[in-house]
Amino acid sequence: MEEISPGLENVYIKYTELTYIDGNKGIMRYRGYDINELAEKSSFEAVSYLMLFGRFPDSKELMEFRDRINSNLVLADYLKNILLAMPEKSDALGMLQTLLSAKASEELNYKYSKENDRDKIPEILGQVLSMVANIYRIKEGDSIIDPDPYETYSETFLRACFGKADKNRIKAMDSALILYMDHEIPASTTAALVTASTLSDMYSALASAVTALRGPLHGGAAEGAYRQFLEIGSPEKVDKWFNDNIINGKRRLVGFGHRVYRTYDPRLKTFKKYADMLAATNEEKNILATAKKLEETGVKAFGSRGIYTNTDFYSGIVFKAIGFPVDMFTTLFGLSRVSGILAHITEYVETQERLIRPRAIYRGPGERKLE
Ligand code: CMC
Repeated sequence: MEEISPGLENVYIKYTELTYIDGNKGIMRYRGYDINELAEKSSFEAVSYLMLFGRFPDSKELMEFRDRINSNLVLADYLKNILLAMPEKSDALGMLQTLLSAKASEELNYKYSKENDRDKIPEILGQVLSMVANIYRIKEGDSIIDPDPYETYSETFLRACFGKADKNRIKAMDSALILYMDHEIPASTTAALVTASTLSDMYSALASAVTALRGPLHGGAAEGAYRQFLEIGSPEKVDKWFNDNIINGKRRLVGFGHRVYRTYDPRLKTFKKYADMLAATNEEKNILATAKKLEETGVKAFGSRGIYTNTDFYSGIVFKAIGFPVDMFTTLFGLSRVSGILAHITEYVETQERLIRPRAIYRGPGERKLE
């Protein structure tokens, strides 16, 4: 008899050479390299290249890759006009979905070609950087700009957003982009794969992915975790809040639990390090102390069931300390996922292409006749 796997748990839909996760031991690697080591020692562009092309670029290839991204930082006027036409209070991720869908509308006579798709990747990375930076600017009431290219993707992005960027924030942003770049095939990447499996263009696949990133169970968790810390207010209030809301209130602890991990999410370590390094104001320090106390309380309560802190618990504290408001967190997650998603869809269509078309078991009424 047919059976379903709720939430597609333990259903495998592709082979991959990209990301390895051991959820019991808390290990995560991109193409064999430890994720935290990559975040410390490499750069977003080099790791993107590694994911997309299977090896690190040499210095000439890295320069060319950066140059091609940088020559695609200007958004078409109609995209800028779309941004200007949207209400200031629009959801940032919704704005990114809109712009990606608009770019898909340019793919008028699209026909899948491995070479053309691969050639387009630096363009997409440049365009998405500019989209996200300008979404931030518009929401802050600033004018739209064409980002100036700096040495790295992270510096270009932060300077486009804030007009300035210091060394520590650039490094933290770069590490965040690397840590969030890929995570095998969560809901968002799966949505992209479903779209790409129809041999659609890559912007359509990305729009699908970003759309699936939205909810609090997935991409929205960093925002949810941060709002939870704000709601609690201070470390002394954690115990009562936890009892009232999580134990008795039956709410889920945001930033805890994972479909794959039964221990700490390995990315947490580096995010926590940058949270410690960047939290400077009294408010930032108070939020961090509240988060740490909540983590301790949550692990005590749930650790024996394999529910531990996930990456979104501390990432919001890092994004906030870099200078972003809470309602940009999910969109920053989207920005960092682009190269991972592109690596997954190209891997899939190039090596295992088959239309993704699962089944549903029918449980409705038998045959009926209209009166
Ligand atoms: N707080 C309290 N209980 C939890 C939590 C949590 N955060 N996570 C799982 N559980 C419990 C859940 O209540 C259920 O208990 P029972 O079996 O008694 O009903 C059990 O653990 C299994 O939960 P599930 O929802 O079937 O597990 P799942 O694999 O579908 O859920 C999850 C994974 C991430 C949706 C879930 O852990 C969750 O809701 N976490 C909070 C939101 C969050 O932090 N999301 C970010 C995930 S990491 C980033 C990413 O990959 O997007």
